[in-house]
Amino acid sequence: MTALPIDAAVPRRSPRLLVVWWSRTGAAQALAQAAAEGAASEGGVETQLARCDTVGPQALLECDGLIIVTPEMLGSAAGMMKDFLDRSYYPALGRIEARPYALMVSAGSDGRGAAQQIERITTGWRLRRIADPLIVCTHAQTPEAIEATKTVDESALHRAREIGATLAAGLMLRLW
Ligand SMILES: Cc1cc2nc3c(=O)[nH]c(=O)nc-3n(C[C@H](O)[C@H](O)[C@H](O)COP(=O)(O)O)c2cc1C
Repeated sequence: MTALPIDAAVPRRSPRLLVVWWSRTGAAQALAQAAAEGAASEGGVETQLARCDTVGPQALLECDGLIIVTPEMLGSAAGMMKDFLDRSYYPALGRIEARPYALMVSAGSDGRGAAQQIERITTGWRLRRIADPLIVCTHAQTPEAIEATKTVDESALHRAREIGATLAAGLMLRLW
């Protein structure tokens, strides 16, 4: 009897995508949901959409790909997202290298500070960026506009879906 190749004998589990997000007024949450929808549209990838205070390093260790979605606050990532990264950095260091990731930032008018800060952290983890950071400005400037619930325009949601779908398709094809 011919022995089965090892690959045929061991069933492969579906690739897992973690979309981890924080949001105060809805913009980053809408982007995260759109990214997860895009990933789901590819089929075959198990997508976990998780608010960052509900998960820790274990979720990172168990995923094959990652999307981080955060608002910019005071020139850097939202404190809650920073807390997730603080809790996860050393437990995940050296254990998630080369996994693909994407980053999305909701901002009033800038977003670059948060994007740079997260990119320094993902560089430390040696993650592989699969798309330029998506920065979406909500144009909130006054205290009232800052506190208002945000609506994200369709073109930004479309781009978030595309990024989710691209990452998921690459996971399915084992491109990354
Ligand atoms: C305390 C605070 C600080 C903020 N700092 C910045 C900032 O540094 N740069 C910026 O572009 N927007 C800033 N914003 C605007 C938010 O990024 C914007 O309202 C965004 O839509 C928030 O995302 P969310 O709707 O997902 O909560 C700040 C908002 C708050 C409440």
